[in-house]
Amino acid sequence: MADYVTLAKTISSLTEGETDTVALMATVACELHHSDDRFDWTGFYRVTAPELLKIGPYQGGHGCLVIPFSRGVCGAAARTGQVQLVPDVDAFPGHIACASSTRSEIVLPVRDARGDIIAVLDIDSDQPDAFTEADATALEAILTDTFAR
Ligand code: SME
Repeated sequence: MADYVTLAKTISSLTEGETDTVALMATVACELHHSDDRFDWTGFYRVTAPELLKIGPYQGGHGCLVIPFSRGVCGAAARTGQVQLVPDVDAFPGHIACASSTRSEIVLPVRDARGDIIAVLDIDSDQPDAFTEADATALEAILTDTFAR
């Protein structure tokens, strides 16, 4: 599992004083992706219009460009405002497979300082059942510290 304590300190240091969300997303995606072998695709989908997500900074193979809130794991996270912890993507109705190798996934809503959902963070793994509640808690803390400060 990633060393989330160190990761949080690193991201906080790298982004200190920065307010540009694209710069923040690029840094978070990079640091998260290279921190843990479970993470095969790490990136953001931004809320660019009502009920619409578009790809943002990411690491890994190409991701689909546009996701409506009505579709996929990302859409579910944006629609419900809840973390989506998916142990088996094949069992998730409407999962969008950007890579056939993906087996499990975690998607978290990203909120700004006003509490509005501005994006989702999507992490895919080639390992089945790769993510835990501990990942969700640690990732939520990093997202809050970075985007809701
Ligand atoms: N699996 C996501 C789509 C994004 S690609 O995995 C990068 C979903 O079902 O929303």
